[in-house]
Amino acid sequence: MALREIREKDDEILYKKCKVVKKFDNKLGILLDDMYETMKSRDGVGLAAPQVGILKRVVVIDVGDGPIELVNPEIIETSGSQTGSEGCLSVPGVYGEVERPNHVKLKAQDRNGEWFETEGEELLARAMCHECDHLEGELFLDKVIEFLE
Ligand code: CO
Repeated sequence: MALREIREKDDEILYKKCKVVKKFDNKLGILLDDMYETMKSRDGVGLAAPQVGILKRVVVIDVGDGPIELVNPEIIETSGSQTGSEGCLSVPGVYGEVERPNHVKLKAQDRNGEWFETEGEELLARAMCHECDHLEGELFLDKVIEFLE
């Protein structure tokens, strides 16, 4: 495993839409492993592939309950709402209040290409939405209601 460079706010790659993953090969596994290690090294709870310069629909999340790997994730159901502080490893030092659904259900593929469904609430739901936004080239900054000191 290796740490990858995290792209920051002014990097245009963060504003591009990511491509669907079609090859479930060893390279994808290495990307997922590297992304997880990179996220952990920076105390993050989520990381999307464009943040390490790869325009593919790949996400890792760990809100404290172990790693979640999402390839080609699609949110299929949301409910409720929550407003809370959000940050991003690509925008260091900036935090803001963002409204998100409180409950999210999504489907995704694992590193072998198997489809599965999973759901999350509160922080996990927030991370799922934030990381799926990255795959569309969207940063949380556009959704901030109020920036925090
Ligand atoms: Co982010």
